[in-house]
Amino acid sequence: MIEINNVHKSFGDLEVIKGVSLTVNKGEVVSIIGGSGSGKSTLLMCINGLESIQQGSIRVDGQEVHSSSTDLNKLRQKIGIVFQQWNAFPHLTVLENVMLAPRKVLGLSKQEAEAIAVTQLQHVGLGDKLKVFPGKLSGGQQQRMAIARALAMNPDYMLFDEATSALDPQLVGEVLDTMRKLAEDGMTMVLVTHEIRFARDVSDRVAFFRNGLVHEIGAPEQVIGNPQKAETADFLKSVL
Ligand SMILES: Nc1ncnc2c1ncn2[C@@H]1O[C@H](COP(=O)(O)OP(=O)(O)O)[C@@H](O)[C@H]1O
Ligand SMILES: [Mg+2]
Repeated sequence: MIEINNVHKSFGDLEVIKGVSLTVNKGEVVSIIGGSGSGKSTLLMCINGLESIQQGSIRVDGQEVHSSSTDLNKLRQKIGIVFQQWNAFPHLTVLENVMLAPRKVLGLSKQEAEAIAVTQLQHVGLGDKLKVFPGKLSGGQQQRMAIARALAMNPDYMLFDEATSALDPQLVGEVLDTMRKLAEDGMTMVLVTHEIRFARDVSDRVAFFRNGLVHEIGAPEQVIGNPQKAETADFLKSVL
């Protein structure tokens, strides 16, 4: 469970998160939508401790992310994250790229890491690309590799930050399908996305961010289907 409680985050004088509270329960899929600069990416970075916070708290499985006594490396192992783009190591094969973290971070043997990597690559539909170099993959395949790479660490949570935004339109579907499958398998997910229909489909709850605050949150049928706030409706009109 992820518990975000009254979080404030500034970059210098610029406060970009202004008191966000949000709880993501085990097995839940929460989508974050909102305009550019509203603080969506920053919040994800705060959740896995890549960014500090000035006020409030974030707990993952009861553990305070921003406490000096927390072993961040350990905590991050249970939180997979997929960005718009992941630059794989070009001189390593797809399989080797996915094996890397289980080998280096978890200290698994080559055989163990390989077995896990193969399983996860098959899971995202890349079972026939094991020996290929990343440069030979399409954008959609690269994103699926990035998902496999995160899953290879056996995370309890997955964060997605506009995982399909850099893709050509015809490649978006295959990545969303992979994410949908993951959601159906019960993964706890927080996804920042501009794919409103997808968010409506897979999410248990949708949060609309505005000016560093959760402006509206609720079931997708409400926030997307029947927004209660004018700003939510305006945003949806601009992206749908
Ligand atoms: N590392 C940083 N240093 C300074 N300002 C930042 C940094 N990262 C993000 N910001 C600013 O914080 C605000 C929120 O950014 P971001 O979280 O990326 O928004 P979103 O993902 O919703 O588009 C923006 O004004 C952005 O310019
Ligand atoms: Mg962003």
